[in-house]
Amino acid sequence: ALVLSGTGAVHYPITGTGWFISPAQAGEFNTTLPIPPLLENLDKSGRNASFSLDVQQGQMEFFPGKQTTTLGYNGNFLGPTIRVRNKQQFRIQVKNHLSQVTTLHWHGLHVPAKWDGGPRQPIPAGSSWNPNFTINQQAATLWYHPHAMGLTGKQVYHGLAGLFIIEDELSDQLNIPKEYGVNDIPLIFQDRRFFNNGEFAYVQSMHDVMNGVIGNSLLVNGARKPFLNVPAGLVRFRLLNGSNSSIYRLAFDDQRVFHVIASDGGFLEQPTAMNSIILSAGERAEILVDFADESNYAVISLLVDQMGGGKFEALRIGVKGSGERAAIPQTLRTLDRIPESEATAVRGFLMETMSMGRGRMGMGMMGRRLTINGKKMDINRIDEKIKLGSTEIWEITNRSAMMMSMPHSMHLHDVQFQILSRNGRRPAPHERGRKDTVLIMPGETVRIISRFHDYTGVYMYHCHLLEHEDDGMMGQFEVVS
Ligand code: C2O
Ligand code: CU
Ligand code: CU
Repeated sequence: ALVLSGTGAVHYPITGTGWFISPAQAGEFNTTLPIPPLLENLDKSGRNASFSLDVQQGQMEFFPGKQTTTLGYNGNFLGPTIRVRNKQQFRIQVKNHLSQVTTLHWHGLHVPAKWDGGPRQPIPAGSSWNPNFTINQQAATLWYHPHAMGLTGKQVYHGLAGLFIIEDELSDQLNIPKEYGVNDIPLIFQDRRFFNNGEFAYVQSMHDVMNGVIGNSLLVNGARKPFLNVPAGLVRFRLLNGSNSSIYRLAFDDQRVFHVIASDGGFLEQPTAMNSIILSAGERAEILVDFADESNYAVISLLVDQMGGGKFEALRIGVKGSGERAAIPQTLRTLDRIPESEATAVRGFLMETMSMGRGRMGMGMMGRRLTINGKKMDINRIDEKIKLGSTEIWEITNRSAMMMSMPHSMHLHDVQFQILSRNGRRPAPHERGRKDTVLIMPGETVRIISRFHDYTGVYMYHCHLLEHEDDGMMGQFEVVS
């Protein structure tokens, strides 16, 4: 049975036995890529968005003949894609069928604080939570996942995550692929580690807490080594790094160029040509890939290179037929840039691994702590107070110390920010749009700017390496009127 007990601390459960399953085992690209189904709108008129989600335990067979105990929304692993439109009234009933607390957080959503679904909105075992608010945001690929104190990493690892797509007039108008599951394909990347008996091998040691749990198998939409057939022509992929702590570089095996059209918070001003893209835990990107130049049936592989870990052939893509060369739009939109002069405050955030005392603890793993501004998360402490309607610059530094440097992925709830600079330099074109999560490498200072508008209340900011978050690399900001 699944041991998921307690809150507020990282646990070291033994959920399986034996060595970890090696990635070389069984099942070579013979399963079709699962596409998370669109969640049915219970409002048949379609005017409002009304949904229901069941948080439940399940079972999967990632390796032939071996059962893995999992968690899922309305299913065994991961959850359906929730698709809404800007300005829609959104209602959902979330029923927690687990024997422990969970929450449901809308990652990237501009949302009233009481419906944010962070650690302050627990859904106790056996109960329901019924958010009801208006979607107030432009088209974007967001996602949802649990966020209970000390349990986020473990619950996400076991399968709790899904996509949350917002559409609007702009996304309707743009001449880009938009047939969900056909030429508009969601891809959720997650690495996992398994015990020999098939169970997930989650946090096993303090090393896993400090470095994050790095897996040696890669799942795409919950499948190992899947295969996908696409029509020739232009295909849009919505990429989510849904891993707990890995940073991925994604590329195609033939190094083909693709065009990035959206970042975390929606469309860029214009498509950006790249042949690989880095996504840290929690980040998304939408890309257009031109498969029109395949004269015959062709197989292209999508590769994932895990920083500090393995290289995976994540997905094989078969292209059927020969299509017309598709046109990539020249411009997507005009972006409203927040001027630096609008900011009324500059705040500094130091993400740091500190060593605690020399004495008995020495410099070992147990003597280290992950902090933001020297503090660990305390739900009874408000770390930053921000005036409603104001604009602020946040300077986030990842201080590297010898033997203790690691990347972090800073995420803010409620807002979509813009990156002003990375170590004083203008960010790369694909990072010039709206963002809610940003990779910060050791020794880097990233300056971001954001408006804090519409809603008052308490929200989180934290490292999105989930083992870091659960260990307390998180703080709270309150928007006050
Ligand atoms: Cu994706 Cu605070 O989380
Ligand atoms: Cu979030
Ligand atoms: Cu971190």
